[in-house]
This record gives sequence, structure tokens and C-alpha cells, in this order.
Amino acid sequence: MKTAMRLEHGLVTEVQCDALVVNLFKGVTEPGGATGAVDQALDGAISEAIARGEFTGKLYETLVLPTFGRLPARRVIVVGLGPREGFNAHRARNVAAAAARRARQGAARAVATIVHGAGIGGMEPAAAAQALAEGTFLGLYRFDKYRQGKGLPEQPEEVVVIEADAGRLPLFKEGLARGQITAAATNLARDLTNEPPSRLTPTRLAEKARELAASAGLEIEVMNGRRLEELGIHAVLAVGRGSDEPPVMMVLRYRGRGGDGFDVGLVGKGVTFDSGGLSLKPAGGMESMKYDMAGAAAVLGAMKIIAAWKPSLDVVAVIPAVENLPSGHALKPGDIIDTFDGKTIEIMNTDAEGRLILADAIAYARHLGARRIVDVATLTGAARIALGPAAAALVSNDDQLADQVLQAAERSGELLWRLPSWDEYRELYKSQVADLKNTAGRDGGTITGALIVGEFAGDTPWAHLDIAPTAWLDKGKPYGDAGATGVMVRTLAQLVMDLAAAG
Ligand code: BES
Ligand code: MN
Ligand code: ZN
Repeated sequence: MKTAMRLEHGLVTEVQCDALVVNLFKGVTEPGGATGAVDQALDGAISEAIARGEFTGKLYETLVLPTFGRLPARRVIVVGLGPREGFNAHRARNVAAAAARRARQGAARAVATIVHGAGIGGMEPAAAAQALAEGTFLGLYRFDKYRQGKGLPEQPEEVVVIEADAGRLPLFKEGLARGQITAAATNLARDLTNEPPSRLTPTRLAEKARELAASAGLEIEVMNGRRLEELGIHAVLAVGRGSDEPPVMMVLRYRGRGGDGFDVGLVGKGVTFDSGGLSLKPAGGMESMKYDMAGAAAVLGAMKIIAAWKPSLDVVAVIPAVENLPSGHALKPGDIIDTFDGKTIEIMNTDAEGRLILADAIAYARHLGARRIVDVATLTGAARIALGPAAAALVSNDDQLADQVLQAAERSGELLWRLPSWDEYRELYKSQVADLKNTAGRDGGTITGALIVGEFAGDTPWAHLDIAPTAWLDKGKPYGDAGATGVMVRTLAQLVMDLAAAG
């Protein structure tokens, strides 16, 4: 069942629910505001827990107190906000997620919560409410459709956001609505990414994109076999050759301005399963290669938000989707392939397939008149070696676009770090027999992989997000389950909003 969220004007001491969520900054010994009012009603139970060291307000820490009739709420959950310093939307979101998960753990059907960060947190009310809605729905997200005997706590029926100050309600309302949209779009991307590879083939991904386009009011074009050949989308066809599942390329169009070409082109890597092809990956961990279409999922999620928010610019999304498998038809190391752009590529390793399909998709986005291109891809294991599991890598040929992307990521609370793109790296993928090679060895793998992709952006401002580190969470966190994260959905949408606002 889907959890409903609504805003209510009222007092935390009067709201009836199974679990009431309030919060506390680390180091506070005498709670104020809503938390203080609840503490008083509970005869100081919260301050007592703090005094005894049972609860410190550490980030994502929770304290659950039964109310025994002293409040209409049956239980109170106090969630730690962490130190006041460094508190931001990112934390507010994860705090909301941790609290919602804790409430669900306790089988709460009706949850009430205050807006974290809007009081002494000092956040702007709409931003705080957006973070609350995002966190709640991202935190409650579960991929359980294939679990028969679920044995999982049920989702809450409703989350009531309670606010005493009527003057704040309009901004809260706006923020909650925004947050519900961004969370739903992120969870769509997570659903697509978590789906098993034989259930989410390129064809099926295209059907999902069609459903999205129909519901969001976006134009969509799905190109397969014959059409791809006519157009000369050679690299996508080459990578798809080893599989019985036909490759496809999707183009979604959003017109918010109605000009020539497109202000932004979003390109997402859609390898629905990456076995490595004939350059086969080792068996251990290969199951995770179903997430090799997380870039495609991020672009689709972002398009969903863009369609809802209607910024005044034009966006085209180009998503190449293939399965990378070995077979008698598969692409071979040593092959030289053509591309849409005309350049030839010598295949050194069939496991470096992402850059091949992105090459065509980016060139095609340019062909459609994209004036800036952002691609999102689980491109290299090396990105995880370089940055660890916390941040995605950015490589760009344009400082202004790179800064805009970094700023959008910052605003969305998604970690992104720029790597250099000096010409020196280009030497590494020169080929004797073709225009370039598809790999350049292990050194600087994220950079060289990105720059090979960037060759097909030419002089169009281009930014590449390597989300191999962050698209998948190996272990659950207090604020979310293990599995697909839906990373960069919100950053891409934010970037488009920012570009529209900048004119
Ligand atoms: N999809 C992988 C990259 C990847 C690895 C994503 C681990 C997420 C987690 C990509 O297609 C790939 O195989 N890249 C190779 C490139 C190499 C052959 C130059 C890699 O990273 O080893
Ligand atoms: Mn690969
Ligand atoms: Zn791949």
C-alpha cells in the first residue's frame, strides 16, 4: 500500500497517531520547540534520557518512548539531527528517512512528524518540507515485489506533517509537493535498476520509458534494429550483437520553450546486463551488473521531474539500451567498429562497452541539436577505486557547465567530485589501426573512459557523471535499504531547473 502524506495545522501535543516524530540536535540538554512541548507532556522523559546518556542526538539515532496516555500519540520517536554545525538539506532528508523507517519498524500505521530543520535548524521552510517528503518516501522505499512470504513490517498508511504556525503552511505545502515528486522519480529509477536483468531487457526498458512518457506527457521515439541501421547507430548495434535481446535507443523530448534544437541533452547508459561480453567478467559479483542501466534510469527519473515542473527550456533525452553478452555473434577484441559520428574504434576489451554506446548516443544528441550534453553512466570500476563508495566522478570539457552540475549536485545533496581532463590523457587511447581504442589500460581509468566518451561531444559543452560508485548501495543504512539508489535523478532535474532560471 502506498503511504499518503498530508499537512495539518495543529499541535504535536494534540495529534492522534501511532508514532509522533520530533527531533533533537546533538548536545542539546533541554529540548525546545515541539520537542520541548512533547518532553513536558511526558514529564521530562526526553530530558531524562538525555541526562542519563541514553540518547545524545547523534545523527540518525532514535529514541522511542511510549506515552501511556499522556499524549494522544501512542509513541514518540525522537530522532537525532547530529551537530547543529553542518546541518543541511541532505541531513534533514536522511533524518526524515531514518525516522520513517523507525516508525515502520514499530508497526506504526499513522505517523505524525514535525518538519525537521525548519525551527532552530534555520532551513528555509519550503526546502525543509521538501527534504522531509523526500526523506520519508526514499526511506520507506522497498524493492519487495518478488518476496512472497514478506515478513516485513507494513508501510504506514499515512504520514501527517504537523505544524502549529499557520503562516508557514503555504510554503510547507509547496515543499512537500516538490519532495513527493522528486522522491517518486528517484524511486522509479530505483525500481528500474533493482529489477532483475532478464525481466528488464532493453525492450522492456523501452516499454517502461513509453509508460513514463505517456503518463508524464512527453514525446517518445523508440528506435530498434532496422531504424538503428538506417541511421548508422553502429556502436550500439555492435555491442548488442552478442545478445538475443535486440538493442534499442530511446529519444524523449520535453519542450518547455519551443525553440530550435535543445538547450540540454541528457544521455544515460542503459546496459541492462553487463557480463563483459567475450572479455567476460569474473563470476563473483557479476549479479550486480544488472545495475549497469542506472544512468538510463537516472535520466528517465529526471525527465519525470522535468515534465512535472515544466521549466522553460527544451530537453532531449537519449538512452541507448543493450545487453552485453558473449555469443557466436558477439563483438570481439580486435574488431574495429564504426560509429554514428563516423570515427572508428578499435575494440581492445568488450567489457568497455558503455563508452561505445554513449559515443553514438552523444553524437546523436548533438545531431538533434543539443547545445549542452550531460551523460550519466556506471562507466568504470575505477571510479569507485578513486573516490570510494561515497561520491560520483565528474569529467567535463567545459568549466561553466561543470560548475553548474556541481552546484546542482550540491543543492540536491548528492556527492560529486570533478576529475581532470588534460590533453595528456588523450595519448593513452590512440590506436594504430583506428581513430581510437576503446580502452587505455588501468591507469586513470575513469578519466580515459570519460574522455573516450567526450571525443563524441566534440566542442559541445559536455559533462560526464560516472555513477559506478554511488548507483548501488552494498549495505543498508539507517536511512535506506541496500540496492539501487536512484542517484543523480535529482541533480539532473535541479540542473535543468537552474539552467531554465538562468535563462
Ligand atoms: N559497467 C562496468 C563498470 C562498473 C564496474 C560499474 C563496477 C559498476 C561497478 C563497465 O562496463 C566496465 O566493465 N568497465 C571496465 C572498463 C575496463 C574494461 C577498461 C572496468 O571498469 O573494469
Ligand atoms: Mn563493461
Ligand atoms: Zn558496463
